[in-house]
Amino acid sequence: MKRILLPIFLLLFGFSFLQKANSQIASQDAIDAKVHALLKKMTLDEKVAQLNQLSNPYYQTGAGANSREAQSFDQMIEQGQIGSFLNVLGADETRRLQTIAVEKSRLGIPLIFGYDVIHGFKTMFPIPLAEAASFDRAAMEKSARIAAIEASANGLHWTFAPMVDISRDARWGRIMEGAGEDVYLNEQAAIARVKGFQGNDLAAPNTIAACAKHFAAYGASVAGRDYAAVDISERSLREVIFPPFKAALDAGVATFMSSFNTINGVPASGNKWLLTDILRKEWGFKGFVVSDWNSLGEMLPHGNVETAYDVAETGINAGVDMDMEGRIYINEIKKLLDDKKISIQQIDEMVSRILRVKYQLGLFDHPYQYCDKKKQDELTLHPDHLKASREIARKSLVLLKNDNKVLPLPKKGSTIAVIGPLADDNDSPLGNWRGIAESNSAVSLLDGIRQAVGNDSKVLYAEGCRLVNNSKQHFFSQLEVNNTDRSGFAEAIAIAHQADVVVMALGETAFMSGECRSYADISLKGLQAELLAEIHKTGKPIVLTLFNGRPMVLTDVVDQADALLVCWLPGSEAGHAIADVLFGDYNPSGKLPASFPYHVGQVPIYYEQLNSGRPYDPNPEGFSTKYRDIPNAPLFAFGKGLSYTEFRYDNLQLNKKEITKNESLDISVTITNTGNYDGEEVVQLYIRDIAGKGISRPMMQLKGFEKVFLAKGESKKVNFKITANDLAFWRLDETWAPEAGEFLLMIGSASDDIRLKDQFSYKE
Ligand code: BGC
Repeated sequence: MKRILLPIFLLLFGFSFLQKANSQIASQDAIDAKVHALLKKMTLDEKVAQLNQLSNPYYQTGAGANSREAQSFDQMIEQGQIGSFLNVLGADETRRLQTIAVEKSRLGIPLIFGYDVIHGFKTMFPIPLAEAASFDRAAMEKSARIAAIEASANGLHWTFAPMVDISRDARWGRIMEGAGEDVYLNEQAAIARVKGFQGNDLAAPNTIAACAKHFAAYGASVAGRDYAAVDISERSLREVIFPPFKAALDAGVATFMSSFNTINGVPASGNKWLLTDILRKEWGFKGFVVSDWNSLGEMLPHGNVETAYDVAETGINAGVDMDMEGRIYINEIKKLLDDKKISIQQIDEMVSRILRVKYQLGLFDHPYQYCDKKKQDELTLHPDHLKASREIARKSLVLLKNDNKVLPLPKKGSTIAVIGPLADDNDSPLGNWRGIAESNSAVSLLDGIRQAVGNDSKVLYAEGCRLVNNSKQHFFSQLEVNNTDRSGFAEAIAIAHQADVVVMALGETAFMSGECRSYADISLKGLQAELLAEIHKTGKPIVLTLFNGRPMVLTDVVDQADALLVCWLPGSEAGHAIADVLFGDYNPSGKLPASFPYHVGQVPIYYEQLNSGRPYDPNPEGFSTKYRDIPNAPLFAFGKGLSYTEFRYDNLQLNKKEITKNESLDISVTITNTGNYDGEEVVQLYIRDIAGKGISRPMMQLKGFEKVFLAKGESKKVNFKITANDLAFWRLDETWAPEAGEFLLMIGSASDDIRLKDQFSYKE
């Protein structure tokens, strides 16, 4: 029977797959026909309007605020001069503006509303770097899905996310917005997030268009300074920087954003090689490219062009379709056409790409489907969303130290002193890019602990010291770190003496990471280390909970803590999620998505290093690659994260020892939970291409991970597949392909904790 059913199933399945593919092509063709017909009716002014995106003047997310001209917006829309807004939101306001566009402008072309929905809209999820630490694809997708549900119910059609910039420099404040240092992890996060935001159908009322940003290499700025130049080889671009963008594209991302930085002297927003040769011609991207906030205009200070007229010519010829808040295209296009510097065909193509996305979103058929006040009220901050936020937050926490098994803490019968400037902070956990979250709306660590223990334990609290003097902080504020006021120390020391255990909350506030938040010193700021040292003197066990938007340098303080839990900026449910881990209701499972340096002088630091001709040798006399004053290794390596239980790795099996182009290698390993708690392990698979043909290859590269749950005592077989594509790289002959030869396979619990190894070869 089975023998008959299987072919029938395959036939039906194949048929429905083909049907779906055909209907997608048909609907694309139908959209193209509509775009074509509409384009024919449009005047040049109406076309240019589609290329023009303006910000809500009362809510700016970039520099060089423009005149506050909200009143004239209505008129501009009516006259068909604006195609898109950013930072305008809410069902009522977007409906009002959309009504003008659809009902009063000559052709009724709907507006597209974009916004930075980075890690939640009103229900805040952990910052993206933290979510990457979950190594949980489904969790990342779910967080983006919920963000899209809330955003789309609030009038939005488009998010400027995911940020897929790889960064290996923790000084760069925007490292918080991506998935860290690794190529594969960034690819996986990009795919999950694009799927989450866009769902299966962009026209559905609860999905929004995503935007892969910032194309490209924004996270590789010199010395970690935001907006600074990038000097990078084509090899690094292709092997490290591009892959997450390509993964987002393959996952169907609707739009791209060009970045602020120069790449080898050419601004990304005026870079034809990048935006046309690679993105459109090599990769076949069909969506549209938006500039970053006035990144076209910023070519003037970059100095690669002389006038706004040149900027527009360079941007258009490079491949930027929409000008975000730069007002360059709207002023210069006519003259450029008159002077034949650009052609009307180019403009038509740019407009078509934007209109196509508007059609895909269903905006022409249902322009008001995203602005439904009832849905907005029902869905925003929905209790299910908060529940999901808590679940994802606890998966994102990374336990890096747990001496004497101080964690998990008992809920009953103890006295817990909660100390530190971030302990009672219900604002910082929301992070910097916080959508429309209310200030101070997160659950603080202190509240989380209090609610978790109820009356069963005694909770004492002291701030110890302030971290910053600013009573209110926001996106643009310059933070004044407290370096002098120790008046709270005595109280903190006193409560530590009364306690069985001290939970300290140190690190960074929400506005110490994010855009324009680069720091040269990434250790604990202000008086925090001093406070920790004073509490350490009490001899009480200390659990350090770290709030951070970046990997930090903890070398001088880590010995003073018995346990170290990296909490990042974990979102609305922060305190509950952290308490879940502290008291063992959830066994920590996060792993570091970026190395924590031993010293800031090691930065940029990442595990995916090439070997040296003089490899590291601990012998201080030798001529080997090393520092004279510090180790080479980070304090905590990529992929590291402890659990309350232990996992044994054994029985590594490969189904063959050699693969060729169209074959795959099946790998399995058995993981056993040998400890006393149920828990999840992130099993990591790395490879090394042992000898290239002319090119040195990194000593290890992550090529797979699986997060598995194991009850205590349980064993499970974990499977991986390696194909030729996983072995490919940018070869000397400038093709993307693997080279024949031997590969080392490494399976482990962290990049510096490899448990099992084997070898296989690839044959061309
Ligand atoms: C940021 C982008 C953001 C844009 C719009 C810029 O300053 O670099 O990431 O999407 O503003 O808010």
